[in-house]
Amino acid sequence: MSVRTPMTLASVEAEAGLRAAVALDPAAVVATVRESGMKGRGGAGFPTGLKWQLAAAAPAADGRRYVVCNADEGEPGTFKDRVLLDELADLIFEGMTIAGYAIGSTEGILYLRGEYIYLLADLEECLARRRAAGLLGTGILGRPDFTFDIRVHLGSGAYVCGEETALIESLEGRRGEPRNRPPFPVISGLHGAPTTVNNVETLAWAAAILAKGADWFAAIGTDRSTGPKLLSISGDVTRPGVYEFPLGVSIAEVLAAAGGEDARAVIVGGAAGTCVPARAFSRAISYEDVRTGGAVIVIGPYRDMLEVAENLQWFFVNESCGQCTPCRVGNIKLLEGIQMLRRGECTPEHLEDLTRLGATMQVASKCGLGQSSPNVFLSLIQSYRSEILGRVPATI
Ligand SMILES: Cc1cc2nc3c(=O)[nH]c(=O)nc-3n(C[C@H](O)[C@H](O)[C@H](O)COP(=O)(O)O)c2cc1C
Ligand code: SF4
Repeated sequence: MSVRTPMTLASVEAEAGLRAAVALDPAAVVATVRESGMKGRGGAGFPTGLKWQLAAAAPAADGRRYVVCNADEGEPGTFKDRVLLDELADLIFEGMTIAGYAIGSTEGILYLRGEYIYLLADLEECLARRRAAGLLGTGILGRPDFTFDIRVHLGSGAYVCGEETALIESLEGRRGEPRNRPPFPVISGLHGAPTTVNNVETLAWAAAILAKGADWFAAIGTDRSTGPKLLSISGDVTRPGVYEFPLGVSIAEVLAAAGGEDARAVIVGGAAGTCVPARAFSRAISYEDVRTGGAVIVIGPYRDMLEVAENLQWFFVNESCGQCTPCRVGNIKLLEGIQMLRRGECTPEHLEDLTRLGATMQVASKCGLGQSSPNVFLSLIQSYRSEILGRVPATI
């Protein structure tokens, strides 16, 4: 049975955010989002107001700017965006419309994960309803100078297309391969135009911030991690599901809510996240401590941690786009190393080599996929070194 705690987002009055936004000038909308302190809910944690400010200020050759909603949600263990898309599509589209107003864009695109195709008809219907209600199109809310519309683009099931520049490549009809950065999308994104790429949850909270005020949002959470956060909690818990907590919540509190108090470890942030052992469950889920785009995977007391690591490593071997060597080859070498460790065939020296390889991948890979792919392995080695080395036969 999957649990759904009450979501603050569900209580936000329809169009209150959009009405509040168009009563301000675009720069004041950006300022409101900046004052809320909100950081992006997609994982990287870039301040949303600053991203909008940069996109609004960047020169646009033909006057075009784009708002892209990243609904690719492919991180293993993350499913909170799916719930928002299913239940609160209006609020997401409202957030996109506010972003369009703030950065001076007339076109928004929601990039929908291929596997979420079953949501497409409802999303299209919601867009049609909003057009008919004067909430999209020309003259939004009776303002002749405000034109904005949204279309949905369906992805094809590649995890790397969640990376914002690969997503833009895919939108332009090419293979979803990450671009070199800089330039960042806010300067040169879709078709070379300034583009803000934001997570589904980020855009929904943006609408809530305009509706309820920056102070309301900033009063929740910690100084550097403001606001509530949706978490997708899965694995060895009695009550998996989507939960809302203020940022700064401890892992222990999350486990108590979801029924995972006996966990031996938690992977916060999904396959590319951090493995936190039980002795560190007082750590906080926040941008200044353990960060996550939303995934909390609970590992029960009887799990083999190396089996968990091997499972995640297969994911990266399969999902690497192959463009750069540290990620393409490094992930295969890490997988082989984990398999050797599981068989007790890995020497302590080779384990050191694997640790160095992981650290090299973190700095030398071209995009966030390769940079974060060794995270779970490295945090596991740090936390369970003696246990893992205990599997190495002394004679090797
Ligand atoms: C491999 C990879 C996959 C990603 N997948 C997603 C995703 O599914 N959804 C998402 O919002 N961000 C994803 N991101 C992060 C995006 O690149 C980008 O930082 C995010 O969409 C920005 O939105 P935000 O500032 O609102 O968080 C991914 C990053 C990487 C490296
Ligand atoms: S890090 Fe991996 S996914 Fe990213 S560009 Fe390199 S090979 Fe592709």
